[in-house]
Amino acid sequence: MNNPAHQFHVFHGPTELSQALAQRVASAAATAVQERGWFRIALSGGSAMLRLAAGFRLLPELNAYWGAWRVYWADERCVAADDPNSNYGAARAEFLDDVPIPADQIFPVDGTLPPEEAARAYEAALRREFAADGDAWPRFDVILLGVGGDGHTASLFPGNPVLTEMVHWAAPVWQSPKPPPTRVTLTLPVLNHARQALFVAMGRDKARVVQKVRAVANGDLLPAQRVHLTAGPCEWFIDEQAAEQPTSESHHE
Ligand code: 6PG
Repeated sequence: MNNPAHQFHVFHGPTELSQALAQRVASAAATAVQERGWFRIALSGGSAMLRLAAGFRLLPELNAYWGAWRVYWADERCVAADDPNSNYGAARAEFLDDVPIPADQIFPVDGTLPPEEAARAYEAALRREFAADGDAWPRFDVILLGVGGDGHTASLFPGNPVLTEMVHWAAPVWQSPKPPPTRVTLTLPVLNHARQALFVAMGRDKARVVQKVRAVANGDLLPAQRVHLTAGPCEWFIDEQAAEQPTSESHHE
């Protein structure tokens, strides 16, 4: 029995996955521009952003409506933009500096602020951005997410009280188990209000968490399992290694 809130697309390797991801995002941009004039996307760090960038490099002829992109982050580390750990810095270097998105349509978290202040400032920027919608929660056209082996997504880590945040759009995270320790993250209700949530998971080390999300959710849910869109299923772009049935130790008697 599969979890209906999450759909999985399995690809042979990074090239096919990256191209499919870029085509999906370009299609989402076309729809958003047609319906609302802008395409609002929140990026994660790590491999999800790298695969999206690679996909657009592989498909230079793809019309992505770059001039209508408004770029945000699903999470950020509280470091300076030129720190190798900065999601914004990595996105600039790997992706954003190579595509014609106007600089004033890119909205990084200020990682030089302490987490609480950075979260407040980022949320204020988001509220300005989404004010016209008049909704209680911002509705991103796409939120691009990765998943950790522990089931975290964005900077929503298992057992962290930020998972229960139901008021703020962005929240500070301290003592992240994945370094760097201090971060800012979009909160779960924001993820759940996205029109599309696209997950990327590659490699054998993600097979166990992918299998957990694919199964019908019961018991204590992992953060990635708690992403449950009001708009429809989350879609996962995974490779064959992440799709494998993980061999459990108990089988090796
Ligand atoms: C971060 C990321 C984080 C990431 C996962 C998976 O800032 O650390 O946003 O949530 O997406 O840790 O990372 P990989 O896909 O690179 O394994």
